[in-house]
Amino acid sequence: MSTDIGNVIEYFQFKIGAFEFKRDEYFAHISWPGGAHSMPVESFLRAMIRDVAWNFFYGTVFFDDTIGTTNQYGRVEFFAARNRDVAGMMQHRYSEFFDTPYIKNIFQKILDDWTNEEFDPLAAPRETGRASGWKNGNNHKSLMRERVTAKRMVGIPGDASLRSDLNGYPVNPHFKDVDQSEPKIFTKPGFENCLHAFNLFAYLSRSDVTWNPSVCSVLRDSLFCPTTEEYILPIIHGNDRMEWFIQLTDEITWVVEDKETGELLAKVYMRPGDVSAMPADIRHRGFASKRAMLLVWENASLSIDKLNHTKMNSFE
Ligand code: PHB
Ligand code: FE
Repeated sequence: MSTDIGNVIEYFQFKIGAFEFKRDEYFAHISWPGGAHSMPVESFLRAMIRDVAWNFFYGTVFFDDTIGTTNQYGRVEFFAARNRDVAGMMQHRYSEFFDTPYIKNIFQKILDDWTNEEFDPLAAPRETGRASGWKNGNNHKSLMRERVTAKRMVGIPGDASLRSDLNGYPVNPHFKDVDQSEPKIFTKPGFENCLHAFNLFAYLSRSDVTWNPSVCSVLRDSLFCPTTEEYILPIIHGNDRMEWFIQLTDEITWVVEDKETGELLAKVYMRPGDVSAMPADIRHRGFASKRAMLLVWENASLSIDKLNHTKMNSFE
């Protein structure tokens, strides 16, 4: 329960190690030994829910230019004032390591207490109410959404289901022109379980979330993670491996910076059919004026993190 102070209901405060988290009407305030930072609560909740949904993702998830997490696959580093290129800020750098289930659990509690009834941190701004204001209900329904993680491919019996009006996924108004017909599959007798196809454009046209890649097909370590994007990627991703982007519809602009210093390296303007490879030494953030479909192709190999450490140690 949140605390009632006079006629306003306050939000709970949280601690993770020596980090303290507080929110008020407009801001999330984060403090640590020797420093403090505030960010708009919308941005904070949008970033945090993705970090949780992606199980801390690959590499680093910057919530903004000051705080974020780095995945150590089993443990998570939470850092503050990291990689500031302003020399004076470096002395304020602070980080701690936590077991993944521990930090994930507290992030979930923060999200649960700080998200008001009308705010959906996974929706596009045009599709949600505000996060600001004093405590007003909760949005368990939106927070409890399961991220799609197909075992083989969406639509295979027993695997993640296709979307339809009937199971609560209407076509998004930005995608009313998307053909909804499904492919016909003719299989040689005996191979019925080996061949599958579905209309990915129709599937994505019914996505109710933004900037949330979901695993739609899997071949060993190769994951196809398509997603629908609108407005601004709520985190800045500092990858620890290469990933490929294939622009399926509409347009996305990517701002690409040096992973360590944040120095601007490139702007990548992607139109339908464009393919780009994002290397492992950058951080990037996407911008989309209209809802756009993007295929993110990820390499889920567990050995990449070990290779990164071996490489780092060999320089020591
Ligand atoms: C990425 O950081 O590569 C990324 C994250 C979320 C998206 C798309 C791309 O929706
Ligand atoms: Fe990325």
